[in-house]
Amino acid sequence: GYDISALLKETGDTTLDIGFVNTASCNSAITYIDGDAGILRYRGYPIEQLAEKSNFLEVSYLLVYGELPTASELEDFTSRVRQHTMLHEDLKAFFNGFPRDAHPMPVLSSAVSALGTFYQDSLDPFDKEHVEISTIRLLAKLPTIAAYAYKKSIGQPFLYPDNELSLQENFLRMTFGVPATDYDIDPDMVTALDQLLILHADHEQNCSTSTVRLVGSAHANLFNSVSAGIHALSGPLHGGANSAVLEMLDGILKDGGDVDTFVKKVKNKEDGVKLMGFGHRVYKNYDPRAAIIKKTTDTILNKDGVRDPLLDIALQLEQRALEDDYFIERKLYPNVDFYTGLIYKAMGFPTKMFTVLFALGRLPGWIAQWREMIEDPDTKIGRPRQIYTGETEREYRAISGR
Ligand code: ACO
Repeated sequence: GYDISALLKETGDTTLDIGFVNTASCNSAITYIDGDAGILRYRGYPIEQLAEKSNFLEVSYLLVYGELPTASELEDFTSRVRQHTMLHEDLKAFFNGFPRDAHPMPVLSSAVSALGTFYQDSLDPFDKEHVEISTIRLLAKLPTIAAYAYKKSIGQPFLYPDNELSLQENFLRMTFGVPATDYDIDPDMVTALDQLLILHADHEQNCSTSTVRLVGSAHANLFNSVSAGIHALSGPLHGGANSAVLEMLDGILKDGGDVDTFVKKVKNKEDGVKLMGFGHRVYKNYDPRAAIIKKTTDTILNKDGVRDPLLDIALQLEQRALEDDYFIERKLYPNVDFYTGLIYKAMGFPTKMFTVLFALGRLPGWIAQWREMIEDPDTKIGRPRQIYTGETEREYRAISGR
């Protein structure tokens, strides 16, 4: 469906494909997307079924190992993850090195590469046991790191993980709980968080996953590869879009809630304004994840009978866009991020934490893709070519003569 002639220029045996719009970088058996039909499947299972019936750890197992676990396999996997949720005490000191108002994404990414320095005897990408323990450590510790990044930003003490709780319950407690005080875990929030993590768990060769594979193709260890992926995810055109959506909705509300004027601005491309949370490189139809999230948004945001006015702005924007030729012609539909920010806000997360939650969800996908890449005998170091557009050969001139 792309205008390939505008994007591709054949030059000798090198093909220019800016943004890799038409270039597959690998074979993969993990995630299937049909962007025109709005289909997403992990290892063959439709996302709708997984979001409704599965849970995040089971989906993580499915992505990483290729099959749904039996009851005993899931129990073993869950208990291995639970045993590794604590951070080394020395790593906790690391959080003090950042300014109090540091964005949690670089804190998360730095802490993940720092994590590798604590396990120097188990980093060999070609040792199956090393890869396995690194997988478990990352899945178990990323929620703890994320919660500590948040605690640091608000000046509260860190809470140790409570391994009687599930991964999501533990994360919510470590994030919002305070020492010596009971924290009531809201089961609706746990269910919504679980679903959101499932929906973000993999999305084939997106920007951050391609980054993880590219860094890993140089045989960098799993921690450093995932750390690079977190940086890629932080960009506003990728994982950063969920916070950008909320800032956009907030801005519209502050300007009096005039949705039509905002849509006009977007269509006129005034100051490069985009309808954040709309459009996708692959989906040229309603993002199936957005359809699932929209239902959850409704449940969570109407929970206590208190309706967030930002939800009405979002619904109006969607309605206008779906009826407007600008968006119809360009096949721009809501993507996964259009509604997630509203749910995260209702859960009590500040905007800065939204992309961190995306990273928690995407982690099993990054791990699965990195493992698939390392195990593939056809993998080569990623090394794109370029079309050189600079000067031809020139003579060096001494500075006095320039
Ligand atoms: N609002 C307004 N116009 C848009 C939008 C948007 N959100 N997205 C694309 N367009 C327009 C472009 O201006 C362009 O118009 P033109 O043909 O008149 O020049 C046309 O649609 C095609 O857009 P591209 O930028 O070429 O599409 P691309 O596939 O490169 O970009 C992207 C996809 C980055 C997601 C883009 O749609 C975007 O910036 N969306 C907003 C940010 C966002 O929500 N990102 C999250 C993506 S999902 C994820 O990472 C989980």
